[in-house]
Amino acid sequence: MAKLPTYQQDHQTIIFKNSAREIQLTIITPEIIRVYENHSESGTSYAIEGDKQKPTDYRIIQKPDHYEISTSALTIKMDAAMHLDAYDSNNHPLIIDYRGSRTPLDRGIDEEHKKFVQEEGHNVPGADDQNNPHYFQVVKDLAADEQIYGLGDKTGYMNKRGYEYDDWNTDNPAPHLENFTRLYKSIPVIIGLKAGHPYGLFFDNPYRSHFDFGKENPDYYFYSAEDGNLNYYLIGGKTLKAVVTNYTYLTGRTPLPQKWTLGYQQSRWGYSASQKMVQGIVDKMQQSDLPFDAIHLDIDYMQGYRVFTWDDAAYAGNPKKFVTNLKNQGKKIVAIIDPGVKKDPGYKIYDQGIQNDYFVKDLQGKVYVNQVWPGDAVFPDFGRTAVQDWWGKNDQFLTDMGVAGIWNDMNEPASFQGEIPQDIVFSDHGRPSTHKKMHNVYGHNMAKATYEGVKRATGRRPFVITRAAYSGTQKYSTVWTGDNHSIWPHLQLLIPQLCNLGMSGFTFAGTDIGGFGSDTTPELLTRWIEAAIFSPLLRNHSAMGTRAQEPWAFGEPTLSIYRKFLKLRYRFIPYLYDLFARESKNGLPLMRPLVLNDENDPRVRNINDQYMVGDSVLVAPIVQPSQRKRLVYLPAGKWLDFWNHQEYDGQQDIVVDAPLDKLPLFIKKETILPWGPEVNQISETPDTTMTFNVYGDSGSYHHYQDNGLDFKYQQGEFNDYLINVDQDQVSVKLVHQGFQPVYQHVTVNLKNQSITLDYHSDTEDYK
Ligand code: GLC
Repeated sequence: MAKLPTYQQDHQTIIFKNSAREIQLTIITPEIIRVYENHSESGTSYAIEGDKQKPTDYRIIQKPDHYEISTSALTIKMDAAMHLDAYDSNNHPLIIDYRGSRTPLDRGIDEEHKKFVQEEGHNVPGADDQNNPHYFQVVKDLAADEQIYGLGDKTGYMNKRGYEYDDWNTDNPAPHLENFTRLYKSIPVIIGLKAGHPYGLFFDNPYRSHFDFGKENPDYYFYSAEDGNLNYYLIGGKTLKAVVTNYTYLTGRTPLPQKWTLGYQQSRWGYSASQKMVQGIVDKMQQSDLPFDAIHLDIDYMQGYRVFTWDDAAYAGNPKKFVTNLKNQGKKIVAIIDPGVKKDPGYKIYDQGIQNDYFVKDLQGKVYVNQVWPGDAVFPDFGRTAVQDWWGKNDQFLTDMGVAGIWNDMNEPASFQGEIPQDIVFSDHGRPSTHKKMHNVYGHNMAKATYEGVKRATGRRPFVITRAAYSGTQKYSTVWTGDNHSIWPHLQLLIPQLCNLGMSGFTFAGTDIGGFGSDTTPELLTRWIEAAIFSPLLRNHSAMGTRAQEPWAFGEPTLSIYRKFLKLRYRFIPYLYDLFARESKNGLPLMRPLVLNDENDPRVRNINDQYMVGDSVLVAPIVQPSQRKRLVYLPAGKWLDFWNHQEYDGQQDIVVDAPLDKLPLFIKKETILPWGPEVNQISETPDTTMTFNVYGDSGSYHHYQDNGLDFKYQQGEFNDYLINVDQDQVSVKLVHQGFQPVYQHVTVNLKNQSITLDYHSDTEDYK
């Protein structure tokens, strides 16, 4: 029998050695175990900040042919060949090393024919480059009944099984369809269900990497990387929710946003070229009785695309006055900032960066130049604290103007003159490294710099939007899925994309509503605003040169339907904000696939055209042209049609009508939901009343309230209301009181009556 490796224990780390390898297992918590093998790379994480290790009891037992390392939740078995197998506490297999050899996909083509086929523009992928001396792979068993979710906003479907993907942040404006392997973000976490047993696997390595989920061979899935250390986390948890909670414990959770950021936002590349155009949009939104909170300024507001400048002349010489005016009316401006700094001696930002040596350089020590919107541009070296601080301070140029949010784009980083060479010197936590290593975390570091800068300057919860991201960026920024198109497949895609982002820790996310590239149609725009109405980030954005797609662009009935849904969104904002307050503690996404709530129901494991908002709101949008009815699968429980309160049993498919102005929407019976007032923007003046709707006859609900702006809630300045309903008995309790004023009246709408309770300050309760 082959000899087992030797091992040595150092607190919660066990180091296994044989003649060829040294593999460390570190117990982070009972449900998180890290697997690590040093490949001579500095291993400081960008995703994980601070010490996440908790004192955890574990034991190690030697069996004849393997070791067993167990915590209360996970058992890892290691054999003589150093295979690693993870089981849950009931000995169900979760993550098992594949024992066979890989059988690379035979595409039936030789090199000569490959060239021939490529001449017409076809893509013939090559095998992964296993001859690269730094290459490594991790191959795991794939069970017949196994689903794989996560990986951020990759294309395709909820379940990634049968597909392959790459992590190499990429700006490719062609339509992102299911055969696209890479997009703007690298979020190397998978959340799996193996024969119904949940697990997570997080590969924390920023180098270019590849995932194949049983495409090459249905018996295994694999991860491979071009370089870096073997560094992954085995994540357990009794439920899928617990796995997501554990993963977000490790990499962080989306902090509570400012409340207004949940409002509707209107954008288009081109608007910001003049004050007149932006004002025109504001006026038209108001005249059309359309609720909104922000207008986004794309690159045109700057002087010749120079970041941290403003084309004053196009803003009547005084952009600050314009922004302040809007602000006084309760409307916010969000402005774009790209990383590329125009190469332009005499321009302050360029000069400062050159003087202080803040830009990335080639191996000869020359500042590296590529092209983006401003033409020749140079790139800040965000892997250094000094550069992050400098960038963050520059954001003050915008916050001083009254700009309320910063949108970071092109931070893959995108470059128009070919990809930045791999050996360009980028810093890694302050030490010289390469573009090859730092590429996938460039956007992360930029978003972090922006978040910190805005926080220092304003004291408010920063509103940052980023296109490129890495695992952990959710702590600093909301994201959008980049340049989609006005095509039906992209309306369909938003459900798996946003749900998988949510499973990967990114709850604050959205798509360009109506589609960015290509020309939208009235029906597509209508179905898009319906389908996206619960997406946490709610922004309509489009490319210059495409057909206009503001809510009024097609007249009636599009405008009225669009308005109806925006009004519905604002009614739901107190619910969405409650979910954010919970999410910041447990990491569970607002918008989520049905499987996250009901993993034991095999029917929901592959649903791509329905989603949940929290635990009890089910959304089944129409995502096909001309469709006026659809099949809806209702999971276990009883459900009420939101529009007419008709009751349905769960665990069945029903056919529902969906004329153009209807979004099929169901509420789980015995649910209480807050119901905001009808408003056209989110006010900074605290609400003094709140309404709750009861779906069914009873229920209980926690509702959160604070000032919606800053960090005072962290010192306890918030209220937690507990609403209980049992038939017609209604009670409202202030479980935590730290924010003033509390609601003076609370109205609860029951099936056949409405009950209003008033606050009595002497007894501090509602009667
Ligand atoms: C990129 C962004 C898009 C933006 C455009 C101009 O394509 O993804 O949202 O409008 O650049 O800045």
